[in-house]
Parts: sequence; C-alpha cells; structure tokens
Amino acid sequence: MSILLFVIELRNFVQNIRPYKPGKPIEEVVRELGIKKKILKLASNENPLGPSPKAVQAMHAKINEVNLYPDDNCYYLKNKMSETFGLATENIITGSGSVELIELIFKAYVNPGDEIIMGDPSFIMYKIASQIFGGKRVAIPLKNYDQDVKGITDAINSATKIIIIDNPVNPTGTIITKEYLDRLVKNVPSHVLFVIDEAYREYIEDSEYPNAMDYLTEYDNVVILHTFSKIYGLAGLRVGYGFSNKEIIAALMKVRLPFNVNQLAQIGAAAALDDTEFVKRSIENNESGKEYLYKEFKRLGVAYTPTYGNFILAHFEHDAKEIFQKAQKRGIIVRTILEYGLPHSLRITIGTPQQNKRLVEVLQTII
Ligand SMILES: Cc1ncc(COP(=O)(O)O)c(C=O)c1O
Repeated sequence: MSILLFVIELRNFVQNIRPYKPGKPIEEVVRELGIKKKILKLASNENPLGPSPKAVQAMHAKINEVNLYPDDNCYYLKNKMSETFGLATENIITGSGSVELIELIFKAYVNPGDEIIMGDPSFIMYKIASQIFGGKRVAIPLKNYDQDVKGITDAINSATKIIIIDNPVNPTGTIITKEYLDRLVKNVPSHVLFVIDEAYREYIEDSEYPNAMDYLTEYDNVVILHTFSKIYGLAGLRVGYGFSNKEIIAALMKVRLPFNVNQLAQIGAAAALDDTEFVKRSIENNESGKEYLYKEFKRLGVAYTPTYGNFILAHFEHDAKEIFQKAQKRGIIVRTILEYGLPHSLRITIGTPQQNKRLVEVLQTII
C-alpha cells in the first residue's frame, strides 16, 4: 500500500500545499491533554452566544425530514435572501460556508499561471485556493495594517485574473474604508474579478465601512462574499453566500457539487435572517467585550491591533506559540497565526463577559 502511494504522483500544484489548519476543536484538546475542566475555545471567531435561537427552532421542526435530499437550488433560502437584500435570486449563490464559494470562484476562473492579487496577510484560504488551481499568488503587504491600494493597483497586469480582499482582514481585524475601496474598485479592469469577502460585516457599525453591495449595479466584475458562520452563530451548519451579476453566478453554479448546502442548513440560515434580536445582542456583546479586552490588555501590557471584527490580534514580545500552549494547558484555546507570518501574535475571539474575564485571568498568570 505505501509503495503504491509513492509511485502515484500528485498534480504539481498540490505538492507544496500546506493544508488549512483550523482553530483546534475542543474535543482534540481534551484528547491530547486529558484536561478535565471546561475548555474555552476562542480560536475560530465563532459567536460566543451560541446559534441564532430562531435558526435552532426552525431546524427542530424539520429534523425528521433529513431522509430527503435538500433542495439543490436553495429555493426558499435564496428567496428569503432576495427579500432581505433586495437582489434577484439569479444574483445570489449559496455554498457550504464561504470557503466553498472561494473555491468555486477559483475553480471557475483560474487557469494555471493566472495571477491572483491579495493582501498579505489575508484569509489563508485565498493562498490555498490559488495553489490548488495553479494560480500565481501576488501578495501585497498591508501597510500599517491597511490595504495598500496603490500596491494592489500597480500589481494589476494582463495576467491578473482575480483580486481578492477580506474586509475586515482576517487576522488583523482592520478595514479598508469606503474612500479607499471606491478608489480601488474604479481601478480594477473589467477582465479581473474583484472579490470582496465581508465575513464579519454585520459586526461593523461605522460610517467609514463601505457597503460593497453598492458596487453591484455599477461594476459587473464584483463578487461579494458573506457568511452565516459569524454573527448568526451557525459555523457548524456551513452556509456562506455570495452576490454578483447573473453571468458570474451562473458560472459558479456550473462548478459546484449538487446539494452543496444541506437541508437543515438551508432552514436554519433562512430563519436566522429574521433574528434581528440575536444579531443586535451579538453586536452589543462584541462591542462591550472589545472595550473590556482593550482595557485589560493595556493593563497587562499586551499590545493589540484595534479591530472591526469579533476577534483581536494581540502582540507579544516573544514567541506567541509558547503563550498559546500555556493557555491551552489552562483550558483556553486561542489561535497562533504562524502561517500568516506573525509568530509573535495571537488571534483571539471576543467571548462573553465571563469568557473574556477567564481569558484575562489566564493571560495574567502566563505573562
Ligand atoms: C475572512 C474570512 N472569510 C471567510 C471565512 C470562512 O467562513 P465560512 O465559515 O463561511 O466558510 C472566514 C472564517 O474564518 C474568514 O475569516
């Protein structure tokens, strides 16, 4: 068996891929360390308030129908989104998390050698998707944690196929403002797909934060990505969605697998869209948690990057992996971001007041 594996050669592009490394699941830490106490996970930017209660209730009512395949075209969910966002269903695509939509974009559009421009750092799946499809990653370093609009614009050439940015950026939590995004979108030529990933947009109530949906009427090459994983608390269901013009959506629909959004996920996501009370509570929790952590980080002498998301990038004087390991031994999982080239930083999800307090107590004992 092992000899056979040796002979079968991988596609060239795949050989150097380092697989995506998610935040450690709680069960894995329990298995590894045999820890008895309750583990707290602040590693994957999940919603600490749990799932949207409306989503849970709606899914309960349909649990006995999972013997049936789901609606392949997500008719009900897309219609609900169409009402909510004021777009035709042909302008909407749903996927198994927005990571699937990222994959579909690359699968549909990237030929080997095509150039993909992205911020550095940015969500690691952009790099992995480029590698899988043989795209050439053109990484433009953030300037003082902001997107370098001039750097991105200057990097565009006839080989550029996609520009993909996250707004806010994972892992820094910083945003590109409306003024700068307006400037950037104007400079993207029509042969380039401009993907704006707004996974954390619902957390942001700031007039400087652009509404990328405004670009859809004017620009045919814009794709916007959103997700139910963050503010709606449905990361485990895996539902992401995207908006674009109908030709691009039709192209992405060609390369997806059938039934890519499961039955309960469709029901739960549609119900979550109506859960305005939960969204409001999640924003409030995030804002107060952010203020509390800023204050405590200052007290502890921990530097941080002010965030627009539901996570904070904290900076340490020495190797952050050591702090990560010590925190884990004390029952808290945070996120190292070595793969983003930041060995001295940890990305920490903002929790509930109790969780934040526990985090601060643990950090205080470590540093
Ligand atoms: C910027 C960004 N985009 C996309 C995703 C993926 O989200 P989903 O759960 O919808 O696949 C994440 C997840 O952390 C993210 O940070």
